[in-house]
Amino acid sequence: MNDVYQPSEDTFLLMDVIKKVPYVRRALEVGSGSGAVSVNLAHKTDYLIATDIDLNSCHATLERLRKHNLRANTDVVCCDLLSAFRESSSFDLIVFNPPYLPDECLKDVSIFGGKHGVETSAEFLQQAHHALSHSGSILLVVSSISDLGKLWAVASKLKLNHKILKSVKLFFEEISVVEFKKGV
Ligand SMILES: C[S@@+](CC[C@H](N)C(=O)[O-])C[C@H]1O[C@@H](n2cnc3c(N)ncnc32)[C@H](O)[C@@H]1O
Repeated sequence: MNDVYQPSEDTFLLMDVIKKVPYVRRALEVGSGSGAVSVNLAHKTDYLIATDIDLNSCHATLERLRKHNLRANTDVVCCDLLSAFRESSSFDLIVFNPPYLPDECLKDVSIFGGKHGVETSAEFLQQAHHALSHSGSILLVVSSISDLGKLWAVASKLKLNHKILKSVKLFFEEISVVEFKKGV
């Protein structure tokens, strides 16, 4: 198990975007870490499921939701990406601040996203597009230091349109929140 990822610039960027999304019926956060994003998301939905592959992170998320009195409309599931859910789950909003540093180091799944930085995100899109409602949105954090061309190619194959909603320049990278929607 890893240390729980603590809220950072990418977390704050995602939370900023979530503030502006409309209220939805069913939402899913993949890779909830400390639970900071899930707390924000729980206010924007009838029902939220938060997941993480790391058991410590699931406990941290559960604890944070409990502290904010948000257990009435939330569940926490420990699983790899969306593996615990049916393809027909029909979430209206799916969000993920993924590990995106380019490296195959398996020691820290909270920051390393595969050889080109996008492998975890690409697999996430493959699974998330099945579980997304027809008019639903996926919000994904991406970084300029990963190979975004590969990610756009995967999205295009899945017939997902993408739009950059907000970006911030950091010391050595630019991070953005991208919205993916099913094409018509
Ligand atoms: C960059 S952290 C983001 C944490 C939190 N959502 C935030 O914004 O602060 C990435 C999180 O994704 C989780 N993660 C990595 N690979 C995953 C996978 N295959 N399935 C589910 N969660 C995963 C990590 O354990 C980590 O908690």
